[in-house]
Amino acid sequence: MIIVGNIQSIDGLIVNIITTIVEKPPINSILFMDEFPEVLLRVISYEDKYIAKCINLTGSHELYKGAKIITENKGLNIPVGEEIIGHVFDSLGRSIDSEDNKFNKSEQVDVFSEIKPDKKYRHQSNEIVETGIKVIDFFTPFVKGRKIGIIGGAGVGKTVLTTEIMHNIGNKKDHLTYFVGIGERMREGHELFNTLNEKKLLDSTVMYMGQMNENAALRSMVGLTAARSARYFRDEKKKNILFFIDNIYRHVQANNELSNMIGELPAEGGYQPSMYSDLKKLMEQLDSNDNGSITTVQSVFIPSDDLSDPAVVEISQQLDAVIVLSRSVFESGILPAVDLLQTNSSLISEEIVGKVHYDLVNQVKAILQKYESLKGIIAVIGESELSQDDRADYHLAQKLIEYFKQSMFVTEDLNGSPGQYVTTEENLKSIKEILDSEITNGR
Ligand SMILES: Nc1ncnc2c1ncn2[C@@H]1O[C@H](COP(=O)(O)OP(=O)(O)O)[C@@H](O)[C@H]1O
Ligand SMILES: [Mg+2]
Repeated sequence: MIIVGNIQSIDGLIVNIITTIVEKPPINSILFMDEFPEVLLRVISYEDKYIAKCINLTGSHELYKGAKIITENKGLNIPVGEEIIGHVFDSLGRSIDSEDNKFNKSEQVDVFSEIKPDKKYRHQSNEIVETGIKVIDFFTPFVKGRKIGIIGGAGVGKTVLTTEIMHNIGNKKDHLTYFVGIGERMREGHELFNTLNEKKLLDSTVMYMGQMNENAALRSMVGLTAARSARYFRDEKKKNILFFIDNIYRHVQANNELSNMIGELPAEGGYQPSMYSDLKKLMEQLDSNDNGSITTVQSVFIPSDDLSDPAVVEISQQLDAVIVLSRSVFESGILPAVDLLQTNSSLISEEIVGKVHYDLVNQVKAILQKYESLKGIIAVIGESELSQDDRADYHLAQKLIEYFKQSMFVTEDLNGSPGQYVTTEENLKSIKEILDSEITNGR
C-alpha cells in the first residue's frame, strides 16, 4: 500500500488529488480512500504535474477535502475464467447475481492494460452466421468477425431484435456470447437474464451491466470491461465471441457526460471533442485475430429519429453493416420494423454471399427503390394510371415487404404468435419464387 496524497477538491464525480509521492500513479490506475477502501477512484489525467484528476467510480459520498488517498499500484482487475460464464457483472467486475466472494480466487485481468489492435490480421474467413431472421440473413448477413448495427429511435424494436438474434445464434458450438447493457433500463437486463435462463442459453453467456441507474463513469466503462473479458476468452481459451451491445449510443453519451464534468468544450452537435476516440477505443478491442473472432451486434439509439445525428453517423461509419429500424414502418404494423432501403451492408458481395444471393439482393433493392418512387406518383394520380409494368412491380414490392415480416421467438408470450426460423436456403428460394411468379404472371 502506498500513500498517494490528499483530496484537494471534489466536483461531482471529478476529484482532484494533490499527490505527495515522486512516482505518480499512472493514468487509469485505481486509488482508494484510506478510511473507506471500497471507494474507488480512477486517475484520468494530471494537471500541473502533481494534481491527479480522478473519477469517483463508485459515486461514493464519503469523500471529503483533505481525505487521505492510497493505492496498490494496480489497475482495475476483474475476474475471468470458465467460472464467470452464466453470470452477470457490473463495470468493475463485481458479480451482480452471486455472492461477492464467489470469484475471489478467479484469474484476474486488468481492464485498462495496454491493448494494441492486431494490425496485421486480415479477415480470413467469410463464414456466415445464420440468424434465421429473413430480413437480416438476406440484406445484412452476419459474417464472422464483423460489426453489425441495429439502429433506430426509441421503441422501434432494437432490443427485441437483439434478443431474438441472441436466442437464435446463442447456442453455436465453440462460441461464447457476451451481452453488455449500457445506459438502458435495468429491468431489461433482468428480462434478458430470465429469457436466456428459460431458453437454456445462460451457460454460454456472460453479461455486463452499466444501465441508466449507474453513474456516467460506470456507464462509460462497462463496454471496455466486457471487451477486456471477451478478449481473455478469445486469446486464452481460443473462443469465438458473439458480442452484443445494447446500446452503443449510450457509451458515447456517458463519455459525453464525463467530458462535460471535466469542463471540456463540446464540439459538433453538443458531443465531446473526444467522441471519435471514445468510440474507437471500444471498437478496436472488438477485433479478431488468429486465436478467435469477435462478431459484434450493436444497437444504436437515434436521438429524435435523426439519422444525421453526429454520434449516429460516427458509429455507423465504424460498422460493416447497419439494419435500420424505422418508426413509420413500425407504425404501419410491419415487424421487424426494418427500413429495407436504408438498411445497408458492405458485406453483400459476390465473394462473400455468392452470386445467386448477390444478384437477388440487387434485384429486390431495385424493385423496392421503384416502389418508393411509384408511391409518390400514386399519391398524385392514382394507381390506375400506372403502366402495366409499373403496376406489376408495385405489387411485387408489396409482396416482398409482406414476405419479410416475421414473428419472433422472444415475443411469443407477448403476442401469441409462434416464432419462426427460416434457413438461408429456404429464404433465398422463397424470394426467388416471389420474383419469378411476378414475371410469369404479369409479363
Ligand atoms: N419484432 C417485434 N415483434 C413483436 N413486438 C415487437 C417487435 N419489435 C418491437 N416490438 C414491440 O415494441 C416494444 C418496444 O421494442 P424495443 O425492442 O424495446 O424497442 P427499442 O429497444 O428500440 O427501444 C416491445 O416491447 C414490443 O412490445
Ligand atoms: Mg431498447
